Amino acid sequence: MAERTIVFAVACGLALAASGTFAADLKLPEGPGANLVYAKCRTCHDLQYVLDAKGLLPAQWKAVIASMHDYGLTASKEEDAELAQYLSTYLGPNPPPVAAAKSAAPASNATVADGRALYMQNCSTCHGADGRGQIRTFPPLADNPDLARDDGAFPVTVVLHGMEGPIHVAGTTYDAAMPPFDHLSDAEIAAIVTYVQKTFGHAGTTITPSMVATRRAKPASPQDVHAYRASLGGT
Ligand code: HEC
Ligand code: HEC
Repeated sequence: MAERTIVFAVACGLALAASGTFAADLKLPEGPGANLVYAKCRTCHDLQYVLDAKGLLPAQWKAVIASMHDYGLTASKEEDAELAQYLSTYLGPNPPPVAAAKSAAPASNATVADGRALYMQNCSTCHGADGRGQIRTFPPLADNPDLARDDGAFPVTVVLHGMEGPIHVAGTTYDAAMPPFDHLSDAEIAAIVTYVQKTFGHAGTTITPSMVATRRAKPASPQDVHAYRASLGGT
């Protein structure tokens, strides 16, 4: 691999996430493992870094993943294998034609969305498996009354469009950015938010895919979502 210069020190990998705006429109080729890349590879930098490296050989992708661990990537051995498999296949030297990837898509939409598994894959890196977050960096979801705002439409909107701007949760100020997860399907987002509310929240609301679709139809920036939170009385 080409030699590269590291121009900044990443103490814990959160510096870029905290200050950066997320390029919401960067999409990965569809395929098994794509969601894991969205979950693991956007916490420090946006996906442009990953897309720019398209064409690497499997061994080179493995080396990239190893160096991301040095920077602070957290992923299990199994997850590393899934990441390497996806990256080598879909961003490797010989990616499958897009049409083939498309015809595989309905199968993944047809699988019943499992809220807990999706939460572990997409959210737990920041908010913790137990939903307790990380003090002053990532707000807790456990016992967070904001989950019930706007009958659950608020958490759905945060997941779809991300959020950026200072917020206060349980007496602590958080001022970072959450990336949008609009690459997930309506059914997947409905399953995640239902899981989060039932497990961590007070509200037992079940979120339906059509509720997610309604929110998806109204595009919003992470800053807009922050203003929406304020309009609901959030400080
Ligand atoms: C803990 C923070 C962190 C995470 C998580 C992370 N990266 Fe990085 N990544 C970095 C840093 C820091 C750089 C170096 C930036 C520079 O040199 O300007 C980088 C650079 C890159 C580059 C450019 C080439 C290189 O090796 O420098 C690629 C490709 C890349 N990352 C891919 C990924 C992939 C794929 C994932 C998910 C498996 C990922 N990154 C997750 C911190 C991270
Ligand atoms: C890269 C880290 C990261 C990931 C991954 C992440 N979040 Fe967040 N989340 C944040 C940050 C940071 C904030 C606070 C944003 C702000 O300060 O405006 C936040 C805020 C929230 C809020 C609003 C909390 C409140 O009190 O207003 C909800 C709800 C939420 N996240 C749910 C989720 C769910 C569900 C997932 C998985 C689909 C997820 N988050 C994934 C970092 C993350």
